[in-house]
Amino acid sequence: MRPFTGTKHQEADMPTSASRYVLGRSEREYMRLMVQSRLMRPWTERYMRAAGLRPGDRVLDLGSGVGDVSLLAASIVGPEGSVLGIERDADAIETARQRVEAERLSETVRFEVADVNSLTGTEQFDAVVGRFFLVYQPDPVATVQRAAALLRPGGVLVLHEMDAGAVNDMSWPPCPVYNDSVSLLFPVFAATGAHTYMGRMLAHTFLEAGLERPAVEIDTPVATGPDSPVLDWMARTVQSLEPMLAAEGLSLPAGVDFDDLLPVWKRTITEQRAQFVGPSQYGAWARVS
Ligand SMILES: C[S@@+](CC[C@H](N)C(=O)[O-])C[C@H]1O[C@@H](n2cnc3c(N)ncnc32)[C@H](O)[C@@H]1O
Repeated sequence: MRPFTGTKHQEADMPTSASRYVLGRSEREYMRLMVQSRLMRPWTERYMRAAGLRPGDRVLDLGSGVGDVSLLAASIVGPEGSVLGIERDADAIETARQRVEAERLSETVRFEVADVNSLTGTEQFDAVVGRFFLVYQPDPVATVQRAAALLRPGGVLVLHEMDAGAVNDMSWPPCPVYNDSVSLLFPVFAATGAHTYMGRMLAHTFLEAGLERPAVEIDTPVATGPDSPVLDWMARTVQSLEPMLAAEGLSLPAGVDFDDLLPVWKRTITEQRAQFVGPSQYGAWARVS
């Protein structure tokens, strides 16, 4: 079997509006990905299992980051299966490889530095998976078609994506210090060409790509108190965008800075007896014939 090859791609640490990956490349971002992954894992796992991933499967993970989805897939496919993560950030791959070695899974999981949109190869997979990946692709329909072409007949495509939803509904009683901070994410994502409403676009994107109508499920992260991991994750996400917000001339609500975002939110959710909502999570999957 011919292995995959692709265009090596490394973006600068400091993102600009012109770069395609809004969250940047840094240790802080890799840590945020791991925090995010702990929160998302049960949902991603449910989508993968509902899609039919099982022991022995050969899985391709698109935009594997620091390896969380690949590690999750490895826990499902077991030692008889295999996982290949494709990622264009070489530093992220290095971290992912170290994690895989630490878990003694190097026999099952491997990574390649490549741009998914320039993959060539003849290897065929039982499942192609991706989380928070399609959102960054300039042409999601073309990327889904490319992903589907890497599946064997009867193989399954499983994607987990977010959706920005309605910012005004994000807290109750309404807490502007949360709503106004979180709402900054969306213009910054949009400025880089990311699809802030990718979640709701999934069924349409699958169908436009010529796939069967997918199954779609939605889950929503909710914080009901100061110790919720949702608050920590959302604060880290806003903090990861600090350079981009500055580049776009956007700033946090008056009296709040990036370092005290989390304590301010914790105080607010407690004093207001509020609940804060994060962006909706969408799982979509379909088999190819
Ligand atoms: C938000 S991260 C998600 C990482 C991982 N899927 C997870 O859920 O933890 C998106 C990743 O996709 C990568 N990426 C985006 N577009 C890509 C492309 N066309 N080819 C390869 N990697 C890509 C980025 O470099 C980034 O590491």
